[in-house]
Amino acid sequence: MKTITTLLTGTALTLFLSMVWSVYAQDVTVSEKSFTCIRDGHKIRNTYIRNADPEKLKEAVRIFKNSVPDKEYPVGTILQLVPFEAMVKHPREKFPKSNGWEFFALEVSEAGTKIRDRGDNVVNLSLGAPCLSCHQPAARFDFVCEKGHGCAPIPFDDQKISELQRADARCAKK
Ligand code: HEC
Repeated sequence: MKTITTLLTGTALTLFLSMVWSVYAQDVTVSEKSFTCIRDGHKIRNTYIRNADPEKLKEAVRIFKNSVPDKEYPVGTILQLVPFEAMVKHPREKFPKSNGWEFFALEVSEAGTKIRDRGDNVVNLSLGAPCLSCHQPAARFDFVCEKGHGCAPIPFDDQKISELQRADARCAKK
């Protein structure tokens, strides 16, 4: 009897560990170095998109461009509207509340990027609201707001957004 219990516990543990492993094996590590000049990304409408894997980038661009509903962005996708904020996609299990998205508040200067805050609980200080509270209504579009996905609007018009993108201090001066 004892042997069977040990065997079963062992099997359950192996199964559990292999599940955990499969989740983390496909995850990405995000550090300050993951963020460079916002304009290094691929721009669609107001948003810059990145993924280190060219195939995944293509898939992310396709989902974003066509506003495909009920579709998950590939792990490793980075979205940015303004230089000082970002969303990075992890496996859903890592941040279940946001379907895997990790929010970032960044401090940007010529010297590079500093991470001020990260996770699924980040607050946008100037708006006084958590990122997730605004992005939640767009859950059907994998938490991507754009316009018309149900999010409360931000107080920046398209012209202001593009000014902020052009003023990113990390970009090489031309
Ligand atoms: C007041 C609501 C609100 C808050 C708070 C907010 N956002 Fe957004 N966010 C929006 C809206 C609306 C858009 C779409 C803007 C557009 O494309 O015109 C957007 C766009 C974005 C995008 C581009 C992809 C997309 O969803 O369209 C990213 C990335 C993003 N926000 C990250 C963040 C992060 C990180 C925070 C917290 C630090 C945050 N947002 C806080 C409303 C909000």
